Amino acid sequence: MLRLLALSLCASFATAENGLSAWLRYAPLQGGQHFHSSVPSHIVALNSSTVSPVYIAGQELQQGLKSILGKQCNVHHAHYGGGSNIVVGTVAEYSKAYGALSSTPDLLDDGYLLDTIGNTVQIIGKNERGALYGAFAYLSKVAQGNFTKVAEVSNPSAPIRWTNEWDNLDGSIERGFAGNSNWFSNGSIVSNLTRTAEYARLLASIGINAVVVNNVNANASLLTPTNIEGLGRIADVMRPYGVQVGISLYFSSPTAGVKGQANLTNFDPLDESVVQWWSNVTDQIYEHVPDMAGYLVKANSEGQPGPLTYNRTLAEGANLFAKALQPHGGIVMFRAFVYNPLNETVWTADRANAQIEFFKPLDGEFDDNVVIQIKYGPIDFQVREPVSPLFANIPKSAVAIELQVTQEYLGQQCHLVYLGPLWKEILDYDLRVDNETSLVRNIISGERFNHSLGGYAGVSNVGTNETWIGSHMAMSNLYAYGRLAWDPTLDAQDVLQDWIRLTFNTNPSVIDAMTQISMESWPAYENYSGNLGVQTLTDILYTHFGPNPQTQDNTIWGQWTRADQKTIGMDRTVANGTGFAGNYPPEIAEMFENIATTPDNLLLWFHHVNYTQLLKSGQTVIQDFYDQHYAGAATAQTFTTLWESLQGKIDDERYYDQLFRQVFQAGHSLVWRDAIANFYYNLSGIPDEAKRVGNHPYRIEAESMELDGYEPYAVIPFEAASNFTAIVVSSNTTAGTAQTTITCPSGTYDVAVNYYDQYGGASHFVVSLANETIGEWTSNLKPWIGNSEGPRVLGHTPSIYIDGHSAMRITFSNVTVTKGDVLKIVGTPDGNDIAGLDYVSILPLGVVE
Ligand SMILES: *[C@@H]1O[C@H](CO)[C@@H](O)[C@H](O)[C@H]1NC(C)=O
Ligand SMILES: *[C@@H]1O[C@H](CO)[C@@H](O)[C@H](O)[C@H]1NC(C)=O
Ligand SMILES: *[C@@H]1O[C@H](CO)[C@@H](O)[C@H](O)[C@H]1NC(C)=O
Ligand SMILES: *[C@@H]1O[C@H](CO)[C@@H](O)[C@H](O)[C@H]1NC(C)=O
Ligand SMILES: *[C@@H]1O[C@H](CO)[C@@H](O)[C@H](O)[C@H]1NC(C)=O
Ligand SMILES: *[C@@H]1O[C@H](CO)[C@@H](O)[C@H](O)[C@H]1NC(C)=O
Ligand SMILES: *[C@@H]1O[C@H](CO)[C@@H](O)[C@H](O)[C@H]1NC(C)=O
Ligand SMILES: *[C@@H]1O[C@H](CO)[C@@H](O)[C@H](O)[C@H]1NC(C)=O
Ligand SMILES: *[C@@H]1O[C@H](CO)[C@@H](O)[C@H](O)[C@H]1NC(C)=O
Ligand SMILES: *[C@@H]1O[C@H](CO)[C@@H](O)[C@H](O)[C@H]1NC(C)=O
Ligand SMILES: *[C@@H]1O[C@H](CO)[C@@H](O)[C@H](O)[C@H]1NC(C)=O
Ligand SMILES: *[C@@H]1O[C@H](CO)[C@@H](O)[C@H](O)[C@H]1NC(C)=O
Repeated sequence: MLRLLALSLCASFATAENGLSAWLRYAPLQGGQHFHSSVPSHIVALNSSTVSPVYIAGQELQQGLKSILGKQCNVHHAHYGGGSNIVVGTVAEYSKAYGALSSTPDLLDDGYLLDTIGNTVQIIGKNERGALYGAFAYLSKVAQGNFTKVAEVSNPSAPIRWTNEWDNLDGSIERGFAGNSNWFSNGSIVSNLTRTAEYARLLASIGINAVVVNNVNANASLLTPTNIEGLGRIADVMRPYGVQVGISLYFSSPTAGVKGQANLTNFDPLDESVVQWWSNVTDQIYEHVPDMAGYLVKANSEGQPGPLTYNRTLAEGANLFAKALQPHGGIVMFRAFVYNPLNETVWTADRANAQIEFFKPLDGEFDDNVVIQIKYGPIDFQVREPVSPLFANIPKSAVAIELQVTQEYLGQQCHLVYLGPLWKEILDYDLRVDNETSLVRNIISGERFNHSLGGYAGVSNVGTNETWIGSHMAMSNLYAYGRLAWDPTLDAQDVLQDWIRLTFNTNPSVIDAMTQISMESWPAYENYSGNLGVQTLTDILYTHFGPNPQTQDNTIWGQWTRADQKTIGMDRTVANGTGFAGNYPPEIAEMFENIATTPDNLLLWFHHVNYTQLLKSGQTVIQDFYDQHYAGAATAQTFTTLWESLQGKIDDERYYDQLFRQVFQAGHSLVWRDAIANFYYNLSGIPDEAKRVGNHPYRIEAESMELDGYEPYAVIPFEAASNFTAIVVSSNTTAGTAQTTITCPSGTYDVAVNYYDQYGGASHFVVSLANETIGEWTSNLKPWIGNSEGPRVLGHTPSIYIDGHSAMRITFSNVTVTKGDVLKIVGTPDGNDIAGLDYVSILPLGVVE
């Protein structure tokens, strides 16, 4: 009886699984009481100041062990004698309280020793932050039910392990898909910083040591005295977690008329008054934030002002801030993302060359406390890019890699894309500088070229949403970012599985299903968006979400594909192209220079080829486009089925939340597939050997139905609609009807409806067969998915148009269809949403088309 009760309690889930506690849920461990003896009963946290990381570590251990094992431990803040203890503190405090350690661990700053051998758990940090990291590491093991004895020294791979948050002062977040800012609102810092502290706790648990709190596209008014005081408050709530605050600067702030600061007539970095101004402002900031981590600067990029305005070099610009920060120990993260608009008619023009052109000549001119922050690829967070060659070209400068945790070009948290494997490929890449092993991770750690500074910047963009980042599953990316920044030699799948165990549970079938979805997600997304190194093929002029390949070309932005009727790809060879391949060290340059040695997955990044060019697989480029887009979308369909296998094995709250997203992704992957395949079929005229592209036997085009109050609509871009055409209501105040007589044999089918969900209105649809309603839904970024609970919203940047961003699918399963029935759809518009419909598919069971 008692036993049963205990089991049923353990099997129940914590109450609110809204994602707020992420991987720090400390869920009760099944049979936790059996492990009480594996864990000491007393915690000694060797600092009694409530705002010290060691004190926090003590609290965290107490709370964690109580919640995971049901074990109540007492916390002491000085030497405590009796019996076995968990002792957490710095090396120095430990020695004071307990005498010198038997052997001195080889610890770097932020590193820790975790020793569970014997009856005392020792968690000893080089500094307070390290001690807190050790406590989180111990709790992570306990929460995963792993009581293996360890005596391990863990040191960070690099000193810089920061996030960049693109929060604007008005409270919005650039490329944020999870609500508004947790710390800014209406031009200043909010008074309630509870969530900010909670975020710092999450970051500490994965080894992140600083947060740049405002957008790189910065606003000078961050520097008003009131806001500087507010930054002090943010720093105060983050400091107990060992997380420092950094800020982004607007280069021309001295002339921006910042309230409470002097207003100058220029922002020339060599002008004495400008130097004084920055030094003055920097001093003011350090009065409020004595441990400020430093500045992040985006200058002379995408319209931002910078030193080039005054014919000064980027190094002179960076050093201006370096000198102001130097007395305080702060550093400048100077972004390498600098490029000028380009003209595509010039064959040799190449945005990918810009960083080399700007930064290589300046190597050696940056002050010691400047770190060049380099995006992983030379363009902009695309689904596949070669490693930025800048990592190999400025050996005299400290560098950091910029990774993007928020999925700007990778489905905006509405498509599940686990990024660990992408980052690992980049971090493990061997650039062969001087023909010697030169792994990217060893360059950014400072090891390869002997720099004490270096590391990681992860663009995270969490918001007020309970899930932090906008979707439960996308939090694996934030977790993996921190873990890999700490130790880039970890395996991306191992990290993922730690996250699954901590965030959901340790049920092997849960781990298997989530692992499969996550590990297959990046390759699948690459396949249905842009494969062969052609880039994501999203709309680069609007929201970076849905398909729109033609926006890449004929713009000044240099993300070109140079696709025409016969050929596609950027010729980045030295022999005949932009010369970009030559920016790599000789062995790598040689490989990319030749089609024969360029890997297929980067072919179109480096070469301009015929659509009929043969790949190493033996397939032509165009057929591979078709095949991979079909394969990628097919894989995305399996994610829904895999996710459905989790019902009852995880809590319903998160099960339905994510099911909604998987259903959306499955539908939108078909939109992607069809758009890209149709676009290149239309351009090249080369048919799909498998006869899939443009041939959809189960579809009934809306424009071919009998329309009343609806009219055909030529969609832009054309490929975002089947047969290039949708229907929209003729009057945006009156419902429209589209109907047709079913001609397929009677039977049971899945009925899929492809429609458009525009932002700025909630149109309503009713689908009926022989006057019997088979489904209805309101189109307001809330696709209906059967038995889902509560309203759900997609977080992606919405579209006000009928296009590849607003296109989506809804499916009604197991519908009895009789030949001769009338299929009728009534669409009622609302506001800007004009009830766009593309097609209906009557799908034999098991077919997804
Ligand atoms: C348990 O922890 C030990 C020591 O850290 C590790 O080697 C082992 O892989 C872990 N076991 C599991 C199942 O994660
Ligand atoms: C501050 O914010 C937290 C988290 O959102 C909330 O729970 C709390 O009620 C707020 N406190 C006040 C005083 O508004
Ligand atoms: C810093 O600037 C403020 C505002 O312009 C001014 O009042 C103050 O005197 C300056 N301090 C120094 C040390 O220059
Ligand atoms: C600050 O100075 C700049 C440049 O001299 C000027 O254009 C601007 O109007 C001034 N702003 C204020 C608020 O005085
Ligand atoms: C910068 O140099 C260019 C020539 O290289 C010159 O035309 C321009 O006037 C200079 N600008 C300034 C602000 O000195
Ligand atoms: C690009 O260069 C061509 C000539 O090569 C010129 O005709 C065209 O106007 C230029 N486009 C832009 C946007 O500058
Ligand atoms: C060489 O470059 C020219 C443009 O200058 C281009 O038209 C041609 O296709 C390229 N040749 C090859 C073999 O890629
Ligand atoms: C480095 O590798 C390149 C390309 O393989 C080769 O040409 C060159 O001779 C090598 N240099 C040295 C110093 O070995
Ligand atoms: C592309 O096809 C053309 C003929 O249409 C041929 O002349 C050219 O050599 C081919 N280019 C490549 C790179 O194979
Ligand atoms: C495709 O759209 C055109 C109008 O753009 C229409 O005339 C034609 O009937 C449509 N084809 C089908 C199969 O619906
Ligand atoms: C937060 O995100 C979840 C899941 O992504 C979503 O269902 C929910 O509506 C969002 N909540 C708010 C308040 O935006
Ligand atoms: C109706 O549609 C037109 C054209 O799309 C638009 O200008 C107008 O604002 C819409 N009306 C409403 C009430 O949204």
